[in-house]
Amino acid sequence: MLACVAGPGAGLFDGDGRHRGPIPADPAAAELLDLYGPFLASGQAGPLVFAHLGQSLDGRIATDAGESTYITCQANLDHLHRMRALACAVVVGAGTVRHDDPRLTVRRVPGRHPRRIVIDTERRLDDRYRLFRDGEVETVVLCAHDRVDRATIGDARILGVPRRGDTIDYAAVIDVLAGLGCRRIFVEGGGVTVSRFLAEGCLDRLQVAVAPMILGSGRPGLALPPLANLSEALRPPTRIFRMGDDVLFDCDVRRL
Ligand SMILES: NC(=O)c1ccc[n+]([C@@H]2O[C@H](COP(=O)([O-])OP(=O)(O)OC[C@H]3O[C@@H](n4cnc5c(N)ncnc54)[C@H](OP(=O)(O)O)[C@@H]3O)[C@@H](O)[C@H]2O)c1
Repeated sequence: MLACVAGPGAGLFDGDGRHRGPIPADPAAAELLDLYGPFLASGQAGPLVFAHLGQSLDGRIATDAGESTYITCQANLDHLHRMRALACAVVVGAGTVRHDDPRLTVRRVPGRHPRRIVIDTERRLDDRYRLFRDGEVETVVLCAHDRVDRATIGDARILGVPRRGDTIDYAAVIDVLAGLGCRRIFVEGGGVTVSRFLAEGCLDRLQVAVAPMILGSGRPGLALPPLANLSEALRPPTRIFRMGDDVLFDCDVRRL
């Protein structure tokens, strides 16, 4: 069961946090609409881009060896699958494909599989991974335009994106996905990929689920360029939900 315990979300809201209509009498339905409403009715012209990370109390999303199943609880895993079901496209970095060999399909809740997008800037992944060969739903690999050396990898299409610095242009990634008809884009990890979207101002909402677990080492969640002082820290408007033993921070990062 979800419970909204704090923040400007204790009702039905659109993407700007405004009330939309009456709150359902069924408390469970009201809680679900409260959490997922902003993802359904963003009201913005371009695609809505949202991300999720599940981390330990000390901000780790995986061990040093890359093991991450599972840090968060079953309720958060259900939530993750609902977020997939809400999305037109689910995006992961190459590091996540290499370590997890994920399917990225909707299995724990009813819903349609989103199109699967892998960001592999240097196009180093080979075709051994499941999402390149299982045929469950379309997969697209986005790499730097100068690394497009063929049209497909397994069943997946390869598309080129302009470079920006030592990675690819994340705004261009969103443009490519918008061109494919994606209106809701879910960035599911890992930490490097979500951090790059955030650093480039390409995220609308960021969800961080914190599990009562301490790893003491491991792969970091968010990592951004160093701050000169604390006043530069991002302080997004945030809603807080209990999710089993975990706490989910749902942050509006659009205008940071
Ligand atoms: N807890 C969670 O919410 C969660 C969610 C997803 C994943 N994970 C875990 O996060 C870890 C991966 O996250 P991440 O932040 O390290 O990476 P990531 O964001 O998934 O992927 C980006 C990184 O992968 C690199 N990469 C690209 N191709 C590679 C290759 N062939 N071999 C090795 N690296 C390659 C990228 O380099 P370029 O600069 O070339 O792009 C970039 O550094 C995994 O252990 C996964 O289990 C946790």
